Amino acid sequence: MWEDLVQTLQETTGLPVSRRDVERALGALKATEDLWENIRLSRVPLRVLVELWRVLQEKGLLRVEEGLALTEAGRALAQEAPLPGEAFCPACEGRGVLGARLPGRARERFLAWTQRRPPAIQDYDQGYVTPESTLARVALAWAWGDLEAKEILVLGDDDLTGLAAALTGLPKRVVVLDADPRIVRFLEEAARAEGLPLEAHVHDLREPLPETWVHAFHTFFTDPVEGPLGLQAFVGRGLLALKGEGCAGYVGLTHVEASLAKWAQFQRFLLENQAVITELRDGFHLYENWDYIPSMRAWPWLPVKRLPEKPWYTSALIRLELLGTPSLPNEPIQGDLQDEEATTY
Ligand SMILES: [Fe+2]
Repeated sequence: MWEDLVQTLQETTGLPVSRRDVERALGALKATEDLWENIRLSRVPLRVLVELWRVLQEKGLLRVEEGLALTEAGRALAQEAPLPGEAFCPACEGRGVLGARLPGRARERFLAWTQRRPPAIQDYDQGYVTPESTLARVALAWAWGDLEAKEILVLGDDDLTGLAAALTGLPKRVVVLDADPRIVRFLEEAARAEGLPLEAHVHDLREPLPETWVHAFHTFFTDPVEGPLGLQAFVGRGLLALKGEGCAGYVGLTHVEASLAKWAQFQRFLLENQAVITELRDGFHLYENWDYIPSMRAWPWLPVKRLPEKPWYTSALIRLELLGTPSLPNEPIQGDLQDEEATTY
């Protein structure tokens, strides 16, 4: 029966789907009727999940009303799917590091600035992580020695990572590139007011990286658009910006918009470019809910049209380190940065 489901989903979505995906999605349905919690717990691309729910409903295995409820037949089908255990540390929300430990009262000052941040808008596929997620990301970089006396590049920064990093007083220099002039102006204002070694520039990552930023940094941060071209634009440029061996990058990657087949492709891309993964922390970033949820691509496909009440969109944090200097092209990137697994733009 699970095998039939896998095959149906592969055929109707045209996307990679595994038996384990079905198992996780059924386990999540046993744990909660809330649609958004199902997305978080399933760790399966939303594009595939909506199709699974539709098929289950069609077969009388799922009842869709206020939430997603397995019928008696549905519960029998899901019997062998394990419940997703939730044993995360409440103090750090499972991240293992705390922004509150950062030097320079960075957390307190950062939280004050986030009160005035520009709202996330659909034009740039924005959607930012919670302030505690941004601070924890910076705290992990601090732990690895990727902040102190380092030159840091942030490629796309609606999360305000560049600001949080600069507020620690540790980096030598922080440069932020973002396509959105509102973010750039906001960071410039914060840098002036706080006297930080932080600069921000309007730059579209589809364009080649200007020579002055090629092989110029020790550390980069990016939360990429997750299509193959998006990863090339964000992570490829990040690798290109690093000086070479021993330099590090921090990258966010979701399950919501990336199958494990895409994760594998991404890991191959890293290895081919002399980058090794030294940390991979799943569910590290929690995203604040954004205003344009009812106009995102997947909204019409959702069986229950209710806005989420708490964060549901999460991503892993990956740290990579260079073993050598990759030779990457620095050419314009043509075409759509999104792909068929993308659902929230
Ligand atoms: Fe903890």
